[in-house]
Amino acid sequence: MNKINIAIDGPAGAGKSTVAKAVASLLQYVYIDTGAMYRALAWVALKNNIDTQEDWSLSALLQNTNIILEPSSIGNRVFVNQEEVTDAIRSNEVTAAVSDVSAHAGVREQMVKKQQQLAEGKGAVLDGRDIGTTVLPDAELKVYLIASVEERAKRRHDEHVDKGRSSDLETIRRDIQSRDEKDASREISPLIKAEDAIEIDTTQLSAEEVASRVINLAEERI
Ligand code: C5P
Repeated sequence: MNKINIAIDGPAGAGKSTVAKAVASLLQYVYIDTGAMYRALAWVALKNNIDTQEDWSLSALLQNTNIILEPSSIGNRVFVNQEEVTDAIRSNEVTAAVSDVSAHAGVREQMVKKQQQLAEGKGAVLDGRDIGTTVLPDAELKVYLIASVEERAKRRHDEHVDKGRSSDLETIRRDIQSRDEKDASREISPLIKAEDAIEIDTTQLSAEEVASRVINLAEERI
């Protein structure tokens, strides 16, 4: 069977990673969480007191940092220089810093190259912000997921509560909005729907319903 690449983009909390994981698992494809790569860099920058506004120091740091995504049943386990940071990169501090880190040209250039290499063999599902526009402009299937900000904040909040983490719905809503604004207004590869992407509004849909729509779209292209 022909293998294709699938790009899943959209704003924070639209269900990208849940859907991408489910689709990858059903098709037996590789799942690549590109946001986790930016989060890993933000984590290591914060740890080393590196200014998140400085492209050159972040780019140099990235050059000397080994970020590995390991496939696992929970999605990707993430390692920075062999230290596992799967949970650490979801902290509030990293979430608050990541959009500044990801806005820099030098950082994005290196990340995009790595992501393209990971998807080289086809059979990959990548989720992020610029997969359909920049990382894989030739992906056979591009999906752009959206949902109301209230629904997205509620999903994140429920996720935190499920994991036993402290969580405040209003703070999450504000964080999501501010991250979206930064991601959509940055100069390089902003969050934007690719012209040939299929938009799905997930506000009223379950993750299973969205995954099954994406699988149907993929099967038409395989
Ligand atoms: O997907 P997630 O919310 O974990 O992504 C964290 C951040 O990483 C985003 O808010 C965005 O700033 C950045 N990102 C990006 N390009 C991608 C994936 C994520 O700029 N392809």
